[in-house]
Amino acid sequence: MKQLKQLLDGVYEIQSNLATVNLTPGKKVYGEELVHAEGKEFRLWNPNRSKVGAAIKKGIKTIHLKKGSKVLYLGAAEGTTISHLSDIVEKEGTIFGVDISARSMRKFIYLCEQRPNLIPILGDANQPNTYREYLNGFTIDALFQDVSQKNQAEIFLRNARLYLKRDGHGFLSIKAKSIDSSASVEKLVMEETKKLENEFEILETIPLHPFEKDHAMIHCIKK
Ligand SMILES: C[S@@+](CC[C@H](N)C(=O)[O-])C[C@H]1O[C@@H](n2cnc3c(N)ncnc32)[C@H](O)[C@@H]1O
Repeated sequence: MKQLKQLLDGVYEIQSNLATVNLTPGKKVYGEELVHAEGKEFRLWNPNRSKVGAAIKKGIKTIHLKKGSKVLYLGAAEGTTISHLSDIVEKEGTIFGVDISARSMRKFIYLCEQRPNLIPILGDANQPNTYREYLNGFTIDALFQDVSQKNQAEIFLRNARLYLKRDGHGFLSIKAKSIDSSASVEKLVMEETKKLENEFEILETIPLHPFEKDHAMIHCIKK
């Protein structure tokens, strides 16, 4: 018998591995292991491949997602992390995944074809106005960002102003080395956090070490 424990809404632990219930049984997304327990198929969530997975492993209190949540995710890449969020929000939810790379987007579109709760947007997260038409009529409950750019906080704020609802939750992965490769990580994360404080209440800042070196996740709520 495999030991199954629920950690958060839609997030489980199976023998100390993170896992989500597979929305597309039998199908893997990035080579992850499929495991059966209590009559369901789970996909193991590799925290070394996903900053949200790493934040959960490091004890983040909530990722504010449940069945039916509406999510904007900046830096979708090929959809590794998004695939687990897609399991969590189930078919009643919607995740808009934005990425600037046409190459990543090609693989992500393939994933979106298998998972109807995902909507791909090829776009620049610096210019959130350019994808307004896709998000029309949706209220975004949670904004996730994982883009390796110098102006990470500005990108996050621009998108939050346009799309995130009041009291909506934000999860900003900070890659310190993309901002300044010589400054200390703690100082950079503090500076980025300061930029959010007018518009967000900061709930937690979680260093992602040892899963991701020089990264932290800021969890905040829109005022
Ligand atoms: C570290 S990867 C994201 C990995 C992904 N979040 C995951 O866990 O599966 C960063 C991504 O940000 C994208 N990116 C960089 N600058 C961007 C921008 N201005 N707008 C949108 N995406 C951007 C890159 O193309 C890359 O795919």
